[in-house]
Amino acid sequence: MKAVLGASWLAMLAAALACGKPSPPAEPSPAPEVAEVAEELAEPWSDAWMLREGQRFIHDTPYRRAALEHSLVNPDNLYSSQRLSSYGLGDRRWDRLPQWNPRSVPVDASMAAQLEQGEFPEVPIERLWDGVEPTTMQGWVSLGRRVFFGYPMRAEVYMEWGLTKRALADAVGVERDARGDIPGLVLFVDTDRQVRVGITCAICHTAVRDGQVVEGAARRSFDYGRLRAEYFEDTGEWVEPGLAERMTQWGPGRADVTEDDDEDPVTIPDLWGLRDQRWLTQAGTIRHDSPLALAIRQETQLTDSNHAMVRPPRALAWALAMYVYALDPGPRTVAKDSPGAAVFEVHCKRCHSNASYGGRVLPHESVGTDPALATGRGRGTGHYRVPNLVRVADGAPFLHDGTVASLDELLSAERLSPDFEGRLRKGAIPGHTAGMDLSPTDRADLIAFLQTL
Ligand code: HEC
Ligand code: HEC
Repeated sequence: MKAVLGASWLAMLAAALACGKPSPPAEPSPAPEVAEVAEELAEPWSDAWMLREGQRFIHDTPYRRAALEHSLVNPDNLYSSQRLSSYGLGDRRWDRLPQWNPRSVPVDASMAAQLEQGEFPEVPIERLWDGVEPTTMQGWVSLGRRVFFGYPMRAEVYMEWGLTKRALADAVGVERDARGDIPGLVLFVDTDRQVRVGITCAICHTAVRDGQVVEGAARRSFDYGRLRAEYFEDTGEWVEPGLAERMTQWGPGRADVTEDDDEDPVTIPDLWGLRDQRWLTQAGTIRHDSPLALAIRQETQLTDSNHAMVRPPRALAWALAMYVYALDPGPRTVAKDSPGAAVFEVHCKRCHSNASYGGRVLPHESVGTDPALATGRGRGTGHYRVPNLVRVADGAPFLHDGTVASLDELLSAERLSPDFEGRLRKGAIPGHTAGMDLSPTDRADLIAFLQTL
């Protein structure tokens, strides 16, 4: 079993960067060398091994800290520097925060009806978690599901307000399932004892299709920017004018989740096949050769989104990671012997190479798409990651910034031209030119193949 390389690895990276001329600190984050990470893990992560790693994550602070350090590709971006200065420090900073196991319940149809009237229903007395650590993988996954739907990321005044405007709530992607329940919203007792509406992972990472909740699918309809912008307009609360303007331009399915002031909204990704991804986030911010990398991402996300006043019990962060790994879009029959598969092999496979048709990270210059996210101070690494293509036919809009409307648009050279009139954008959409020179037949075959992934 491969131990997680920790501080020693970072020291090596620092040394490697230090030789040659020192880079001036005020420059935009330089692209650090991305250390080699085996694309396929030496051993697939067996359940038994994961259960043991879970115990180390929960109980072994130096192990967690080493995993954090190893997982951050560019220690200088805001995402990483915040975590390096706050997480896994034993008796300091985020490790010292009180653990929070909230009273919180998903908003069902009858609660939704009350909230629409501006009334707050009672929150049951039980906590989200009964405090018992699961001992089986199945147990962890089902606990993780509770967290995914039930752990508040923070109180959301915009949602409280938006729920009282039914037409707006529908228009900004507050989706309801066949029973009228609202996946992704909870009613909870906040740390100040106020009953509040909160959002959870499921508001962005589920979609309702034909009345059924698809867990792990990106919520393409969720227009968080518009919800917030309309809130500020309606209430007259002060908001920085530039921000208000930018929020209306995110459009559905995108959110600026980065910590900087740059304008770099990203699409919400589907969460399929993440076990196969050796890097997490579209700019490859997190090296992912250990499940601790994802568990730490989730623990720090829940801590940060709750304004670093509290932290989730570590068992809940681990459970969330196990649940995310278990997400699956259901059975599919990949057309492996079709003509399109052969086209994919020649034109796409060298990058889209893993079992979920994603791959490694590449310098953003060689990808050629909009560089703002890759070079941004928020999460930038100088790179973009090759995304998985599982269920890509349901995944539009495409690319990290959601500028490409369809597979046809992605593969057509016309979008490189300044007069391009795409469905989502007027003007050139540069980059990712693979497949543009295919014959019409090959392109049609390729798209037919992609539709089976
Ligand atoms: C407001 C919408 C929103 C919420 C809420 C949200 N996410 Fe995300 N999530 C995103 C976006 C946007 C990205 C893409 C970020 C990037 O690539 O930089 C993302 C990325 C991810 C990734 C990385 C996927 C990949 O392909 O590398 C994981 C894992 C993830 N989210 C899990 C969660 C979990 C678990 C929660 C709840 C704790 C959550 N998210 C809450 C919008 C959201
Ligand atoms: C040189 C490496 C490379 C090759 C070759 C390549 N891709 Fe990609 N692909 C990428 C990268 C990197 C991204 C992410 C770029 C971004 O978001 O800015 C991407 C993104 C995509 C996306 C968008 C997925 C999403 O969820 O947004 C699709 C679809 C895609 N590629 C299909 C293909 C197909 C089909 C081929 C073959 C014709 C191909 N790619 C060839 C590197 C490559």
